[in-house]
Order: sequence, then C-alpha cells, then structure tokens
Amino acid sequence: MYKFLYLIPFLLIGVWLPPEINQARLILSELRGGDFAHAGDKEAIDMVLAKIKCGFPEVLEGNCLDVGCGFGGTADYLKKCGFKNIWGVDIDKSVIDYAKSKYKGIEFLTSDAASLNLRFNRDFFSFVYLFNVLYAIEDKSLVLWQLANVSQSGAILMIFDFSSTESSEPILDLAGKPMCPIYTKNIKQQLHEAGWEVLEVRDLSGNFIVWYEQLLKKLDEKKQELKGHFLEKDIAKFSATYVHILHQLRRKTLGGILIYAKRI
Ligand SMILES: C[S@@+](CC[C@H](N)C(=O)[O-])C[C@H]1O[C@@H](n2cnc3c(N)ncnc32)[C@H](O)[C@@H]1O
Repeated sequence: MYKFLYLIPFLLIGVWLPPEINQARLILSELRGGDFAHAGDKEAIDMVLAKIKCGFPEVLEGNCLDVGCGFGGTADYLKKCGFKNIWGVDIDKSVIDYAKSKYKGIEFLTSDAASLNLRFNRDFFSFVYLFNVLYAIEDKSLVLWQLANVSQSGAILMIFDFSSTESSEPILDLAGKPMCPIYTKNIKQQLHEAGWEVLEVRDLSGNFIVWYEQLLKKLDEKKQELKGHFLEKDIAKFSATYVHILHQLRRKTLGGILIYAKRI
C-alpha cells in the first residue's frame, strides 16, 4: 500500500486545481475595459447610480448585495462611488476567486441566489441589485423571494436585464446555456408575490441595441489584438453569441429592462 504514497501530492493538486474561467467572459472584460459582463458597462452603472443617489441616498450607508457579481468590477466601481458595505455573491466559484484576488474591501462569496438564506440573516440588506443575472435563472419567483428574505423593510431592489415577449426565440448565453429573459408581462406580479412593491419599470431596449452595436464594433477593431491572447474558437463563440443577441434585439424578440422595487 505504501508504494502508492508518492501519488498523494499529485492527487491533492488535482483536487485543488482552480476552476477554469470561461474564456469568452475574459474577452468580454477586455473589450469592455473593465470586469463587467452586462450591457452598457459603466454607462449602465452610472444610470443606476444617479437614480439611487437622487431617490434613495440612504442605501449608500447600509449593506448592499451584488447578486451574480461575476468578476466583481461592478461592486468595485460602486464602492469607489460611495457605497460603504458591499457583498458580492455568484454561483460560479472561478469568478469569485478572480474577484477576491483582484478587488479588496468587498466580501465575495460563492453562493446560489436561490439559497441566500443560508448565507445571510433576514433583514440584512438595504440595497440589492442584479446586472444581467436573472436571465440566467429559470425560477425567478424563488430568487425574488430569497432577495426579499434577506432585505429589510424599505430596501431597494434594482434589476437590469434582458426582457422577452411572447414572440421571443430560444437564445444561448456565453456559457452555452439557454437564456430565460424576464417576461415583462409576469414580472410585476412575481415581484409583488415575493414581497416587493414595484416603483418603476423602464424599457431599455433601444439602449441595449446601441450598447451591443458598440460592443461588436469594438470586437471588430480589436480582433487582431485579441488573437494574441485568446483562441480563435473562443473569439468566434463570443462573436456568434453577441451577433445573435443583437439580431434578436433589432427584431424586438428580445429587449432590455430596468426595474426598481421596494421591500414591503
Ligand atoms: C452576465 S454575468 C453578469 C455578471 C455581473 N453582474 C456583471 O454585470 O458584470 C451573469 C452572472 O450571474 C451568475 N449567476 C447565474 N446564475 C446564478 C445564480 N443562481 N446564483 C448566483 N449567481 C448566478 C453567473 O455565474 C454570472 O457570473
């Protein structure tokens, strides 16, 4: 038996190997010039920031939760813009490891948005936000309920995402998983049932078209440079995903939406 002891270090390395980061998402970060994976990059965050600072400035002092925080660029940007206490959660351990190593002063945790009650106390947050995350989650009602559970009365929820209509067609995201955009007709009812009062629903479809046109233009301009860092198949996958998304946005079978709600 002892003759196999020499294998132990190799087995341990195998177990501890960090999970691999989706290369197409790194391309996205490089093109966007920051660790963002949502439409509109900083412009979208600034849009939300302006609304929060003007309408609900008190939430800057409280606890904030970035759900599906990805690489952590959004949380870091908000921290630099005055938010005091930010937690970032994501179901993907590889992006949380990346965020933890790069951004300090923010608590990053690997967690499924559908089980936040296992991680946080009730009534803990005063601001909860999701930038392009709900489209990846099928059971939206469960997540909205979980968000309500960890938010205090009066807390603000911001959802920025893809929206769909009756004529929407199946789309795969960068990870190759089917997207489940927010069904505009149902979301108000889902929010209400989960304990949220809807304050504002804004159609951002026009903005999404411009933002994805800009992203694809940048891809064209930087293609040669990207080829020096990424495999051609990853660049092609990236391009195909966003060309298809832009096509759907132009056909109005996909849209963009911004929602603010208040915890009842
Ligand atoms: C398009 S990225 C957006 C990342 C980030 N919000 C941003 O704007 O840069 C979507 C993120 O949602 C995360 N995600 C998907 N389903 C999740 C879930 N059930 N719980 C937590 N995070 C989830 C993914 O791992 C991914 O990092």
